[in-house]
Amino acid sequence: MHQQPVKLGCHNVWKLYGPHPERLLAGGAAPDLDAIRASGHVGAVRNVSIDVRQGEIFVIMGLSGSGKSTLVRCLSRLVEPTAGEILFNGKDLLQARPKELIDIRRHKMGMVFQHFALLPHLNVLQNVAFPLQVQGIGRAAREARAEEVIALVGLEGREAYFPRQLSGGQQQRVGIARSLVVEPELWFLDEPFSALDPLIRREMQDEFLRVQQLLHKTIVFITHDFDEAIRIADRIAIMKDGEVIQVATPEELVLNPAADYVAEFTRYVSRAKVVTLGRIAVPGAAEGAAGTLPETVRVEAVANEVEAAAAPFNVIDEDGVVIGHVTRQAVIDVLVGRGGRG
Ligand SMILES: Nc1ncnc2c1ncn2[C@@H]1O[C@H](COP(=O)(O)OP(=O)(O)O)[C@@H](O)[C@H]1O
Ligand SMILES: [Mg+2]
Repeated sequence: MHQQPVKLGCHNVWKLYGPHPERLLAGGAAPDLDAIRASGHVGAVRNVSIDVRQGEIFVIMGLSGSGKSTLVRCLSRLVEPTAGEILFNGKDLLQARPKELIDIRRHKMGMVFQHFALLPHLNVLQNVAFPLQVQGIGRAAREARAEEVIALVGLEGREAYFPRQLSGGQQQRVGIARSLVVEPELWFLDEPFSALDPLIRREMQDEFLRVQQLLHKTIVFITHDFDEAIRIADRIAIMKDGEVIQVATPEELVLNPAADYVAEFTRYVSRAKVVTLGRIAVPGAAEGAAGTLPETVRVEAVANEVEAAAAPFNVIDEDGVVIGHVTRQAVIDVLVGRGGRG
């Protein structure tokens, strides 16, 4: 992908809980986990640096308690970091005054949580329009805008329903619509689908990707589910004990895990789900190719097509330039777990 500008930069961010967190960081050297624990503190976020680029889906993945929610709350400054720097559109968010901060959150950030608190006495339309009401936008305008996002998330016709009349999945859709109604520049989703049944969860992931294709938001998406992460992410940051231990594309994570901890997650992932055509393409255009396919497409998505074709496919980059070709055999090698190595 052409390199997009950094939308949200987070540099050496710490969040320690305990009796005197600032003092712990005041010395020259950063304290390690043992020192943090021994002094009665919790190292919820430790020295995290990540850059989220415009238009990408940046996933933060880690087990429960690894610091994901604390980090995302630091990024929106719902939690005050103990130390570090957070740049939103290049501006230091930690220097923003309270009023400015409220304004940024209200107009430029959208948030969805696992247990999204819909207002029980408001119907779907009113719930979705609520953030615009808070902004002081008139009823007709805010309801017209709410109708648009309600349609976007597939809830057309349910405008008059109340939250208790909706399934869990539908309630999350309302939450998603409500977070999008202000047209946020940055969209934070903290385990939005984790409480849903697996089938519904998959459906919601597909819907989420469809909506993102239309909106091109900059997204920070949190999950503890590695399968969900590789399905939706452009890049993934893996967290453990408050630290980010690797940031990479799903493909790089699976093929080149930086630590045993990462390898544990990737061990049972089928390669075809992450390996892209760009990785297995052989240089040079194929004579009489069966067609062209983008380099960013994952093998799983086109395996049947390539396998069924009599000739190889040419592989093109985002400018439409042929970078090479893929053969039937190369695809089969990935499917049986031989291809696409490091
Ligand atoms: N307000 C708080 N006070 C003390 N410890 C906290 C607080 N919030 C979170 N923690 C601790 O910080 C760590 C990271 O929590 P959290 O960010 O919620 O993890 P995750 O979202 O990955 O499950 C956990 O050990 C948690 O108990
Ligand atoms: Mg959490």
